[in-house]
Amino acid sequence: MSELSLTEEQFNRYNTSGPRYTSYPTAIEFHEKFTQKDYEAAAERSNLHTQNKPLSLYYHIPFCDTICFYCACNKIATKDRNKAVTYLDALFKEIEIQGKLYNNERIVDQLHLGGGTPTFISIEQMQSLFKKTSEHFNLRTDDKGEYSIEIDPRECSPEMVAGLRDIGFNRLSLGVQDFDARVQKAVNRIQPDELTFRTIEAARDNDFHSVSVDLIYGLPLQTIDSFSATLDKMINADPDRISLFNYAHLPHVFKPQRRINEDELPSGEDKLIIFNQSIQQLTNAGYVYIGMDHFAKADDPMAAAQKNGQLHRNFQGYSTHAQCDMVAMGVSSISEVNNVYSQNVKTLDEYYSAIEKGELPIQKGITLSDDDMLRKHIIEQLMCNFKLDYSAIEKQFDIDFKSYFEKEISALQSMHTDGLLEINENSLHIKLLGRLLIRNICMIFDAYLKKAQQDGQRFSKVI
Ligand SMILES: C[S@@+](CC[C@H](N)C(=O)[O-])C[C@H]1O[C@@H](n2cnc3c(N)ncnc32)[C@H](O)[C@@H]1O
Ligand code: SF4
Repeated sequence: MSELSLTEEQFNRYNTSGPRYTSYPTAIEFHEKFTQKDYEAAAERSNLHTQNKPLSLYYHIPFCDTICFYCACNKIATKDRNKAVTYLDALFKEIEIQGKLYNNERIVDQLHLGGGTPTFISIEQMQSLFKKTSEHFNLRTDDKGEYSIEIDPRECSPEMVAGLRDIGFNRLSLGVQDFDARVQKAVNRIQPDELTFRTIEAARDNDFHSVSVDLIYGLPLQTIDSFSATLDKMINADPDRISLFNYAHLPHVFKPQRRINEDELPSGEDKLIIFNQSIQQLTNAGYVYIGMDHFAKADDPMAAAQKNGQLHRNFQGYSTHAQCDMVAMGVSSISEVNNVYSQNVKTLDEYYSAIEKGELPIQKGITLSDDDMLRKHIIEQLMCNFKLDYSAIEKQFDIDFKSYFEKEISALQSMHTDGLLEINENSLHIKLLGRLLIRNICMIFDAYLKKAQQDGQRFSKVI
């Protein structure tokens, strides 16, 4: 793999702010005119027209015992475990309401528990959650689904790992972020190495299909050398997948981030070197760079899916499953069903109040137009497969690619000149440098971005 470098002028030009495209249109386009009726109509369309397409379920458990200063997730800080009891009662009612909307033949191919900290709830509560789910949805019992849970190693004993496997989970994703003690202190997440390693070991002992870990680069006090040492330790622990997130610093949106000392953050230039060096280090260790922030072992199904053009992207990042309709439950969660996105209310009070009335706790959403669907497909292709085949898109969407995207193709010319991509007669190929700047490339195809920027919407830095 060749060295990736940008001139100072290119660095400044490309180091803008932009969305991470876990959805298109992005969540800022969701609006409150979208109602429960719109969501129910989408569920009905998906039952009628998609030949019992499998489902993906997501549960959001928002609670965290302590707050990491960098965190941009939807979470609620509390030490009161009783809060989970009330929350699960409401979640169970949401499961009942949602379960009625879908054909029972539709198999749950994917299930994901995210947070906050899913292991804030006990193993007994987790068992009831699975039992409740199986009463209202068609869960797989053959261990062939992708049933995953986010684990905070500080909140999960090896016994709990074994319990999760018994319940039916077969994938773990662990929050690690950085092994360096100074960095951990600066972000208020003290996590002794031993906790991380024993959790990975417990996952292996209990025959989990896959262990994935989250790291973040761009955190305070990180240096090129310190992060390389963190990666070495991580590589030694041998996870199947590594997510290497670019720290999204938006202190005006995420209050705890105001406790981070900005003078201690690595510079944009250093971050680019850290990421570049991480790609080298991980590929030397046998990982494939999937794209954006994801790496997987060469023999992992994710690497194979990318090779075969079968990789997808959803709110949980990359996924190897053919696209399912995603039914997301719990505060702030986002569903994607047929051609709509629908997001739940963000506070517990609003959530409990809607559920008490027997309503779905939808706050906002969007029904995608034909143009949205086309651009969504293009952005997904770029993020997952790093190429666009014009004729395949023309066939699928009944358009003439070059005239439809005349403006976009012309805007891509400077990226072609800078070596980010190759524009051919009938296709577009992203080069390695372009993979690092894939958000910039996707931004060209985003029809909403200009207006969002004019409206003062702020996104995280691309580099
Ligand atoms: C919901 S959290 C993980 C689960 C669990 N709460 C934990 O911390 O171990 C999902 C992941 O998002 C990533 N993350 C959180 N805030 C971030 C930020 N500001 N920028 C980049 N990644 C972030 C972290 O790597 C974190 O592990
Ligand atoms: S990173 Fe995880 S544990 Fe830390 S505050 Fe965010 S959700 Fe909670």
